[in-house]
Parts: sequence; C-alpha cells; structure tokens
Amino acid sequence: MVVVAILAAGRGTRMKSDLPKVLHSLGGRSIVERVINSVEPLSPSRRVVIVGYQAEQVKAGLQFPNLEFVEQTVQLGTGHAIQQLLPHLEGYTGDLLVLNGDVPLLRTQTLEKLLQTHQTNENAATILTAHLPDPKGYGRVFCNGNNIVQQIVEDKDCSPAQKQNHRINAGIYCFRWQNLAQVLPHLQANNAQKEYYLTDAVTQVGQVMAVDVEDDQEILGINDRLQLATAYDILQRRVKEQWMIAGVTLIDPNSITIDDTVELQPDVIIEPQTHLRGNTVIKTGSRIGPGSLIENSQLGANVTVQYSVVTDSIIQDGTRIGPYAHLRGHAQVGNNCRIGNFVELKNTELGDRTNVAHLSYLGDTTAGTQVNVGAGTITANYDGVKKHRTKIGDRTKTGSNSVLVAPVTLGDDVYVAAGSTVTEDVPNDSLVIARTRQVVKPGWRRKSAES
Ligand code: UD1
Ligand code: CA
Repeated sequence: MVVVAILAAGRGTRMKSDLPKVLHSLGGRSIVERVINSVEPLSPSRRVVIVGYQAEQVKAGLQFPNLEFVEQTVQLGTGHAIQQLLPHLEGYTGDLLVLNGDVPLLRTQTLEKLLQTHQTNENAATILTAHLPDPKGYGRVFCNGNNIVQQIVEDKDCSPAQKQNHRINAGIYCFRWQNLAQVLPHLQANNAQKEYYLTDAVTQVGQVMAVDVEDDQEILGINDRLQLATAYDILQRRVKEQWMIAGVTLIDPNSITIDDTVELQPDVIIEPQTHLRGNTVIKTGSRIGPGSLIENSQLGANVTVQYSVVTDSIIQDGTRIGPYAHLRGHAQVGNNCRIGNFVELKNTELGDRTNVAHLSYLGDTTAGTQVNVGAGTITANYDGVKKHRTKIGDRTKTGSNSVLVAPVTLGDDVYVAAGSTVTEDVPNDSLVIARTRQVVKPGWRRKSAES
C-alpha cells in the first residue's frame, strides 16, 4: 500500500510570476498535474498535495477526484512540509512516496523501480539519485559500496571536499511511514538555510538505499523559465520520438510541436511549422501542414490540412482543408468535403461531399450533403443581440456573394442566384433571386462627359 505526498507549498520566487510555479503550463498541462499523472498507474491509496503559497489557487487548479490537500501555512523546509502529514496519517502502516511538485518529467517506471527496490530490500527508506556533471544546488548523497546511504548534505552545507561528490539527491523518496513518523517530530534546523530538512530525517529512519535514475533528464526540477523551456524541449523530444517509432512521419521535427495529449495513427504525415495541441486525434493517412495549428479536434483518415487553424472541431475522412481556413466553435465537417481558401466555419455542421471553397463565413449553420457554397457566401448569423441558425438542404448551391440572413432555411436542391441577400425561407427545388434586377439604358451617357 502506498500513499503519495507531493510537495508544492514553496513560493517559486525565481519564476517571477503571479501564478504559483507548479501551475505553470508545460505542454498543455501544469507542472504539478504532470507529477500527479505520473503516479496514477501506481494506484496509490491516497494522494496528498502539500500546499502553502497561494494555496487556494493551487487547489483550484487541480481538479482530480479524491485528491487531498494539506496546508503548510509557513514554509520552514521540506521536513517541516512532511511533518504536516502527521495528523493525517495517524496509524498508517504502509509506505509514503514523496515527490516534488516541481519535478514534472519523472517516468512512472522510475517510480515503480524505486518502490520495488524499497519493498524487496525491506528498506526503511529508498531515495532516487543521479550522477550529474554539474551537481551545483543539489543535496549530495554519500553511500557505502552497496548503495546504502550514509549521509545527505545540502549544497549550501557541503565542505569543498563534499562538493566533489556528483551523486545528488533527486528529492524523490519512498519511506516506511511508521519509521519516518517517529523521526519527524525531532528534526532540527541547524543548517545554513535554517530549515527543517527532510534529508535529515532520511538518514535516521533505518536502512536507506539509493537507486540511480536511468535518465538524468527525468529529475530536472523547474525553478525558472529557462528550466521550464528545457523541460518543454525534453518533453517534445520524447513525444516526437514516440510518434516516429509508432509510424508517424514528421518532416522537420524541430519546427513541429505536439502535446503529449495528442493521439496519432500510423502513416500520418506532419509537415513543418505545425502544432498539435490538447485532445487532438488524427487518423491514418492524414497529412497536416505545413503551417497549421490543430487544437482539441478529431480528424479522420486521409484528411489534408494546409496553412490552417482548426480548434474544437471534427473533420471526417478524406476532407481537404485550406489553404488558409479557420474552423472553430465545434465545426463538424463530413466525409470528402473541401473547405478552401479564406473560409471560416464556426459552430457549423456540413454533410458529406459539401464544398465551401472560397472566401466564405459560415456561422451557426447546418448544411446537408453535396452542397456547394459559392465563393464569398456569408451567413449573417448575428443581429447585434442574438445568434441565429441557417439551414441549407442537400445539393443546394449558393451563387457567389450570397448573403443568407439567419434565421433562414433553404430546402434541398435550391439554387441561390449570385449576389442575393436571402431573408426568407426557400422551399425545395427552387431558384431564389433576391437582388434588384439589372437595368440597362441603351445610348445613355453622362452629360458631363459630352461637354
Ligand atoms: C531539495 C533537497 C535536495 C535535493 C533537491 C532536489 C531538502 C532539504 N533538500 O532541495 O537534497 O537535491 O530538493 O530537487 O529537501 N517545499 C515545501 N515546503 C517547504 C519547502 C519546500 O512544500 O517548506 C517544496 C517546494 O515547493 C518544492 C520542494 O518542496 O516543490 C523542494 O523544495 P526546494 O526548496 O526547492 O528544495 P531544494 O533546495 O531544491
Ligand atoms: Ca531550498
């Protein structure tokens, strides 16, 4: 049985931000959300986040079921933070996994390995360590030959000789709670920072073992915006490698960004300068980009998107989008449609094989199958107060530069003459002409031109 505690009470001064550090976004999820996600597969019996600085905001930013919060009202160090758990874990006999809220790249398998080592060796504590070329700022871990930890010394408390040790404390620990609970009340703040160090408790609980992390990048802590960018870079490399191995072609991967919430099928091709965000799903054979942004959208198989922005929308198989289209507000486009140059669709539903090829705005519109929306057709969906819907039946064709003033319904097989402003419903199989008739006056010439 394992309870997880996440340290997130610190201020994060070096971010120079009004937003609490752990709530900063890292590829579509906050830093601390990533930490919480990494422990989910371990099925912990409880997850407790220790909050302090801007506690209310941090709580509000974390909408996970059954997540618990414990407040550390003054931040007197990592040991003091864990002391706050004492009243909440009274009588608990299992293990406590301690994670830092600002170390977001840890892999679940690393935590599994830590727990496994902890349990098979019946350790009182097991800590995650790394050998860093530049260990500055980290606590140094001193072990005997069998990875049994003798001492952890904070960087600020190290002698010059101790600083030569490059084995560092990653700040990730597994404790047998009962042992730790006995030691916690007796921590002292006799150190350079005048803080209660969790690391001091570590060496007092019994047998403590160190486990090296396989990939140093995992333990990167985020203290400033430079480290935030570094973490984003690492995350992007992970995500892109994963998709390339899974059969997705990325053309010029460095110019592409993909959130790790995105799902792609094999034989998807992503062209340069393309960004895939949020809960986006793209099916096989689709070619996205160059120069496109797809956010929270579902794209079917064999869809192409060029130089376009698609947000919160659904596009079915074989449809071509762009260049220069904007789909938003729950647009839904059927199979084998064409949404062309300079077209905006908002909260609009189109049936199969419907084309909106040039220079159109369709807002709050439902159109059937095989509709042809002529160049420059606009739905006037807003009367200044309310939005209204436009309905267009199957196989209907609108002439160039038509304006459909909502609420209005065009039936099936309707033809709208070019330049019409349609304000009233049109029944099936009709031609509608809603413009002034052309007047030609032969032999007429401006008087002024004669003089
Ligand atoms: C800590 C470790 C150090 C390790 C490093 C790894 C101690 C004493 N030192 O140092 O050995 O190498 O992490 O990154 O533990 N926090 C609270 N309440 C507090 C203080 C901190 O919740 O009173 C939280 C912070 O928000 C942060 C985490 O604990 O998420 C770590 O605190 P921080 O001050 O960054 O510790 P380090 O000095 O980095
Ligand atoms: Ca500190």
